[in-house]
Amino acid sequence: MTSANPTSIPDAVSRRLADHQSAHLDDLCQWLRIGSVSSDPTARDEMDRAAAWVEAKFHAAGMATKRIATAGFDLVYAETPPVPDAPVVLVYGHYDVQPPEPLEKWVTPPFEPTVREGDLYARGATDDKGQVLTHIQSVTEWLASGTALPLQVKFLVEGEEEVGSESLEDNLEELAETLACDCVVISDSSQYGEGQPAITYGLRGILAMEIRVDGPSQDLHSGSFGGALMNPAIALCHLLSSLVDSDGRIAVPGFYDDVALPADQEADLIGSLPGDDQTMARQLGVPSLFGESGFSTNLRRWARPSFDINGLTSGHQGEGGKTIIPSFAVAKFTFRLVPDQDPDRIAAAVRKHLESRLPPGVRLTLDVGHGAPGMVTSIDSPFVDAAKAAIEEAFGVAPVMIREGGSIPIVARFQAALDADCLLLGWGQNDDGAHSPNEKFSVADYHRGIRASAALWQQLGRLSGRT
Ligand code: BES
Ligand code: MN
Ligand code: MN
Repeated sequence: MTSANPTSIPDAVSRRLADHQSAHLDDLCQWLRIGSVSSDPTARDEMDRAAAWVEAKFHAAGMATKRIATAGFDLVYAETPPVPDAPVVLVYGHYDVQPPEPLEKWVTPPFEPTVREGDLYARGATDDKGQVLTHIQSVTEWLASGTALPLQVKFLVEGEEEVGSESLEDNLEELAETLACDCVVISDSSQYGEGQPAITYGLRGILAMEIRVDGPSQDLHSGSFGGALMNPAIALCHLLSSLVDSDGRIAVPGFYDDVALPADQEADLIGSLPGDDQTMARQLGVPSLFGESGFSTNLRRWARPSFDINGLTSGHQGEGGKTIIPSFAVAKFTFRLVPDQDPDRIAAAVRKHLESRLPPGVRLTLDVGHGAPGMVTSIDSPFVDAAKAAIEEAFGVAPVMIREGGSIPIVARFQAALDADCLLLGWGQNDDGAHSPNEKFSVADYHRGIRASAALWQQLGRLSGRT
């Protein structure tokens, strides 16, 4: 491995990056104007347009491009020509976004990208259109500069990441040859903080479930019938609160059986990162942080499992009171999982726990949604060294190594199916508001991300490929 070279981007590429900044931003704004919400059945056309947009972008750059139909939303694949003896890199990202609601909380509409004080506001700005586009732009400029890329870059941009990546998973075996690579590069996470880039070496997995408790066949007068039958909302509250104790520990028998503890060395590494609980509490607008005792906040967010209720519905939701016993109650909830927890085993344990605690007089329905295992990847490899050098070159600061608490369902499957290392290079910030109103992405970080990506091809190109 050649050591870090502070000027690894060829001049002709570097000049193009500087000269085309406004075109790069315009491109992103175009893509962001398409409301590609994968979970919204009325947004099918937008999903199609978002896939077509990125396909056209690859095509215009001169890359070989393929639209791969699935049972769900299309995959968009592109590649640059193979380079003998050089590594093959697969860039993965997603063109789908989370629903923009609540709309009234947005300062400017979610699909009308707007720059304010150096940040670009729009749904998908940081998650993930802005981030994945950095790699597409850098390859486009390499190709346009006439400088030979020192490796082959493949791209896979999918439309179901935000709903569990089921179609990609179903097609992965068939695509393994197309996607074969030495290393997967993903920019769909965050820097550690303002001015502190990071490489992420671990993500949590996820298990999503929905619980429904049914009572009377319709809402009832709570005066006439209160006390005579089980209220489904109360039954649901009992069931949900049985999942977690007041110290934040998950109370499902067997839940922690397979949890891999972080090594002392890793806990030290995470402990040495800057940041304090009071500052985070202030940023998040809560009186104090809370969670499982005995673990620091970063360990709780990154290396310990957690339980969250994501949505809760029952009874009268409108203005004013309404004296009823609701006929049903529903909750959506998720567990974040860590290595080596198996989502299927956890789902079975949760089902058993809830069924055994169902109060009398109501019916229970439990739906298991998407599940994905957590993952960790190597923290020292030639790929990581190359990424460190590229990031330092573009951001002017060496990255720190972190884990993150979010989930990218397909990564663990990539590791298994492609037997490739994974580089998670997040250009976003924790306070970008992914999944929240007023999602944003720093314009400067977008351009730095493009530059880091351009440098990454040079740094990785110095390594030799597997074949
Ligand atoms: N980009 C996120 C994953 C992420 C979030 C990585 C925070 C690192 C830090 C991704 O788009 C995402 O939101 N994933 C979902 C997956 C789920 C819907 C199956 C998640 O984590 O909730
Ligand atoms: Mn994402
Ligand atoms: Mn997301």
